[in-house]
Amino acid sequence: MDLHLNEEQLMIRDAARDFAQNEIAPVAEHYDQAGEFPMPIIKQMGEMGFMGIEVPEDYGGAGMDTIAYVLAMEEIAKADVATSTIMSVNNSLYCHGILMFGTEEQRKAWIPPIVLGEQIGAYALTEPMSGSDAGTMRTRAELSEDGSHYVINGIKSWITSGPVAHRIVIFAKTDPDATPKHRGISAFLIETDQPGFTVGKTEPKLGIRASATCEIMFDDYRCPVENILGKPGEGFKIAMTVLDAGRIGIAAQALGVAEAAYDASVQYARERVAFGKPIGAFQMIQQKIADMKTRIEASRLLIYQAALAKMASKKSGARYTTEAAMAKLFASETAMYVAHQAVQIHGGMGYSKELPIERYFRDAKITEIYEGTSEIQRMVIARNELKIR
Ligand code: CAA
Repeated sequence: MDLHLNEEQLMIRDAARDFAQNEIAPVAEHYDQAGEFPMPIIKQMGEMGFMGIEVPEDYGGAGMDTIAYVLAMEEIAKADVATSTIMSVNNSLYCHGILMFGTEEQRKAWIPPIVLGEQIGAYALTEPMSGSDAGTMRTRAELSEDGSHYVINGIKSWITSGPVAHRIVIFAKTDPDATPKHRGISAFLIETDQPGFTVGKTEPKLGIRASATCEIMFDDYRCPVENILGKPGEGFKIAMTVLDAGRIGIAAQALGVAEAAYDASVQYARERVAFGKPIGAFQMIQQKIADMKTRIEASRLLIYQAALAKMASKKSGARYTTEAAMAKLFASETAMYVAHQAVQIHGGMGYSKELPIERYFRDAKITEIYEGTSEIQRMVIARNELKIR
């Protein structure tokens, strides 16, 4: 597909590619094995504009469009999915909601430190007993008697960047009796260096091991009323709107890791000789290569379609929920398929830690789970098509 990328889009794609291949790829294995958050890389990415690609320059961002964002995300993920996860949370889950629903004061105060790479952002929706069914959250935010702040109590789990985050967009029930239940949810901007906030257990994970994930606890945390994001009761809508944007980034991330696994497979199939010829000369390998390539290019088209729909929605206000869900569903399942085939093509070497193939395989899996599982994406697409809930 010739998307006629403009100069700005080509520039960020090339800058991301250079940075990813020269600065991230050589250390990706180290951070994965150590399970260490790549803070120096994240700081550099902030300085280069990768932490706020769609954020207007007024708030310290790069002021680019969604196509630029997905191109950069793909390149970073091609080198390391964990790094691209941190990038995705800062760009989409943290900044997008504040840009869409924040006041001017909130945007000016809460966005620049994150996009400049000085601080880390996070997004806290999930709880131990509330994952896919996000509306069932139990975390409670009660308005104080004098109306000056909300008192927040509860536990959030699976918080990407949680152990190192300075600022978090969190969701809590302000009206537990509301019907339907999601109308009792509100969104808040919180700082993690305040009393009442603690980091709980860190999750040991199969993949994206350099991206830190943990539980966070609120114990009578006092959030000033001016730090509510949007209006009371608007939290669920904010969470879902933000996830629509986030899912496009995860799709681009999935595309990146699929491409990394595919490129390695093509090279290996050309070089590895068995039964007197390169294994790529065998039809069983050719079938895998053909299917991998076709699914990758189909993912790319769905991602561009979703990115263009998001860009159009700036003017029309129309939701791009279905486009984002289809892109994430197809690209993440493609990433898993391609990484699986890449291990198979590489045989024992695909299973060995000598090559990054096994890391691609471990990292690809998360794209089918976070920001809504494949099952949730199918539910979202089907409900929107059938117009039933
Ligand atoms: N945009 C705006 N509003 C939306 C929306 C969207 N995309 N989707 C739903 N809404 C609104 C609906 O219009 C409705 O509002 P009204 O009642 O005012 O009409 C309201 O939200 C409730 O909608 P539903 O009845 O469809 O809600 P539901 O309870 O049935 O749940 C769901 C819908 C799609 C399953 C949703 O719960 C969901 O997406 N679940 C998955 C959650 C998820 O993705 N979690 C990932 C956590 S974040 C993460 O992984 C981050 C990380 O750290 C990397």
